[in-house]
Amino acid sequence: MIAQNAHYNEKMASVYEQMYPIGFDTDAALEFLATLAEPGARVLELGVGTGRIAVPMAERGYRVFGVDASESMIAKLAERDSKGEVTVELGDFTQPGLDMGGDFPLVTLVLNTFFVAVSREAQLNCLRNVRDQLAPGGRFVLEAFDPSPYHVLTKPDLSMRFLGENAIMLDTLMVDRSQQLMVATHTILDGGAPQTTQHVLRYAFPQEIDLLAELAGLRLVERTAGWRKEPFTALSPRHVSVFERAE
Ligand SMILES: C[S@@+](CC[C@H](N)C(=O)[O-])C[C@H]1O[C@@H](n2cnc3c(N)ncnc32)[C@H](O)[C@@H]1O
Repeated sequence: MIAQNAHYNEKMASVYEQMYPIGFDTDAALEFLATLAEPGARVLELGVGTGRIAVPMAERGYRVFGVDASESMIAKLAERDSKGEVTVELGDFTQPGLDMGGDFPLVTLVLNTFFVAVSREAQLNCLRNVRDQLAPGGRFVLEAFDPSPYHVLTKPDLSMRFLGENAIMLDTLMVDRSQQLMVATHTILDGGAPQTTQHVLRYAFPQEIDLLAELAGLRLVERTAGWRKEPFTALSPRHVSVFERAE
């Protein structure tokens, strides 16, 4: 299996902002997060990436800390964060013992990033790290897709994304439901030689996430279908779930 972070290489980092352009649900996410912590509060984002959420949060007065396993993504964040307001560390949130200072009133893990932990043990490690970094009474926000439509795929799913006037991305998804694994392949076509990267996700159903969270000492507080607090139903393609420490 391919090393999970090889995917977020320089090329992917260079097109990441076109994949999720400004305005892509980000404003709604910022509004949602603002209901959970006041400006001035310390916020930790796991898999902070190019700072799509972290940089505007810092601009709104939060003291933002981020961890990411990709040097290329961190370099892009630094370009966006010209005032150096976000404190970023290179690290792996699936390894036990992540220490970003602890006592955070808000910890976030958005855009399906939980699923980069490709085993149940790695997902549990991640949630234990969250639990240890969270302040009593603090909130942990996890945004992920509901895997139900993917879990039944029996052949590769192909789709295409617009990256800009002269660039598209071809995405293929293959699923091994016996292991809840999904292999996503992204090919960038921008006039140069096509470049393909692949990454593996271990998807988990919301109820399994709740159980893993419970094992890690967290408790579900609220689940909605998105950042605008749409009700979560059997047909919701994704969820935004809020947890707290269980004690
Ligand atoms: C889908 S991107 C999300 C980025 C950002 N949170 C956002 O919302 O735009 C996932 C990020 O997680 C990082 N990542 C993947 N595996 C990781 C790990 N084990 N530990 C830390 N970061 C990881 C990737 O490098 C990438 O920047």
